[in-house]
Amino acid sequence: MTIRRGTAADAAVLAALARDTFFDTFAATNEATDMALHLERAYGVPQQTAELTDPGVVTLLVEEGGLVVAYAQLRRGHAPDCVQGAEPIELWRFYVNREWHGRGLAQALIARVTAEAGDTGAQTLWLGVWERNPRARAFYLKCGFTDVGEHVFLFGTDPQTDRVMARPL
Ligand SMILES: CC(C)(COP(=O)(O)OP(=O)(O)OC[C@H]1O[C@@H](n2cnc3c(N)ncnc32)[C@H](O)[C@@H]1OP(=O)(O)O)[C@@H](O)C(=O)NCCC(=O)NCCS
Repeated sequence: MTIRRGTAADAAVLAALARDTFFDTFAATNEATDMALHLERAYGVPQQTAELTDPGVVTLLVEEGGLVVAYAQLRRGHAPDCVQGAEPIELWRFYVNREWHGRGLAQALIARVTAEAGDTGAQTLWLGVWERNPRARAFYLKCGFTDVGEHVFLFGTDPQTDRVMARPL
């Protein structure tokens, strides 16, 4: 397994992985029309090219057997008021292909994420996770995050409640 930073050359691979893992995670528990709207807005070669070339975004890709099977993205910017820690940075996206769940890959990726986040000078890592995503919430608790509040995530036309979690770096 290798973990490396993504570049613009990875846009098509990242777009496909991001779209597929998002659909796989949330399609069964959401309206198809909201899902379609979200996929169209968030994923595609133009969107992921913009992210991969944005100096405020760090994209990490996990490769296994020549395939990209997981990714994470850090994003500098505004944090919600409930994030009290100094110098916050957002863990914006964190997705592992289903066949790799429960096999330790996510732990390796979060270790690299925290190292990269620390290298930016950040002191606090925060994220939003859907209140109805118990596996991810359990994973983040296991990784030292605590629940610090909530914020709204507009999924298509559906305003959903995300738990906000944070941990010191
Ligand atoms: C979230 C994710 C990265 C975690 O990686 P993982 O390899 O599945 O994580 P782990 O198996 O190490 O840990 C998950 C924990 O949740 C537990 N769990 C599994 N299903 C659960 C459920 N329905 N309710 C509560 N806990 C659950 C597991 O038992 C495990 O805890 P344990 O190690 O103490 O037994 C991965 O599941 C994933 O990519 N999911 C889809 C995308 C996603 O939801 N991303 C997060 C967006 S914010």
